[in-house]
Amino acid sequence: MSGVAPLPTIPVRSDRMPPVEAVQATELFAERMAQRRSVRDFSPDPVPDAVIDAAIRAAASAPSGANVQPWRFVVVSSPERKRRLREAAEAEEREFYDRRATAEWLDAIAPIGTDWRKPFLETAPLVIVVFEVHQGPHSPKPYYVKESVGIAVGLLLAALHHAGLATLTHTPSPMRFLNEVCERPPEERPNLVIPVGYPADDARVPDLRRKPLAEVMLRC
Ligand SMILES: Cc1cc2nc3c(=O)[nH]c(=O)nc-3n(C[C@H](O)[C@H](O)[C@H](O)COP(=O)(O)O)c2cc1C
Repeated sequence: MSGVAPLPTIPVRSDRMPPVEAVQATELFAERMAQRRSVRDFSPDPVPDAVIDAAIRAAASAPSGANVQPWRFVVVSSPERKRRLREAAEAEEREFYDRRATAEWLDAIAPIGTDWRKPFLETAPLVIVVFEVHQGPHSPKPYYVKESVGIAVGLLLAALHHAGLATLTHTPSPMRFLNEVCERPPEERPNLVIPVGYPADDARVPDLRRKPLAEVMLRC
């Protein structure tokens, strides 16, 4: 039995809509989200700061285990820091592609056509580095950190896509160098690197297909 009192309550805001409207709204949203693609060639054109602020506000509205909100979003936009980020990521990635990756893993990513080079970390006008915040001197013990941060990142990608921006979810491996580049303490653990910007005029993406609904969804 906890000695901590529950919070006071407030009424739930309900946006219930007629079923026809709800279907239309969800179909439109699904169509819009289906147009999102991971982009690896960015234009250097700048992105309004206010869009990034609002997208991160959307991400930070995500549910989290015990409402601990165990996330930190570091927006890297200075050319010097992006250069350091790219250099460190490419060093890890070169090691990964040349030595650490298993043949099975290389086969799995081969259709995407990626290699150790990560120029997008410098060409994109900004890179959002997402950290999981674990227990530390100024942070409480979090619960379901990966699930919570994953949901927040989903909202972030959706918000940025909704604003007409392109993103890539990039996971250099290992990622510890990001603490040094972003000057974050050890209890913050890198989760994802997300270059953000507009696609380059000649950007292309692999012609991937999604699994059909019948394969990924069951009703019982
Ligand atoms: C957790 C996660 C890690 C990923 N890591 C990388 C990465 O390190 N480099 C990369 O080029 N793409 C990476 N991707 C992007 C996937 O390759 C991409 O999402 C997938 O091929 C589907 O393509 P789409 O995002 O264009 O629909 C990652 C995606 C996720 C969700």
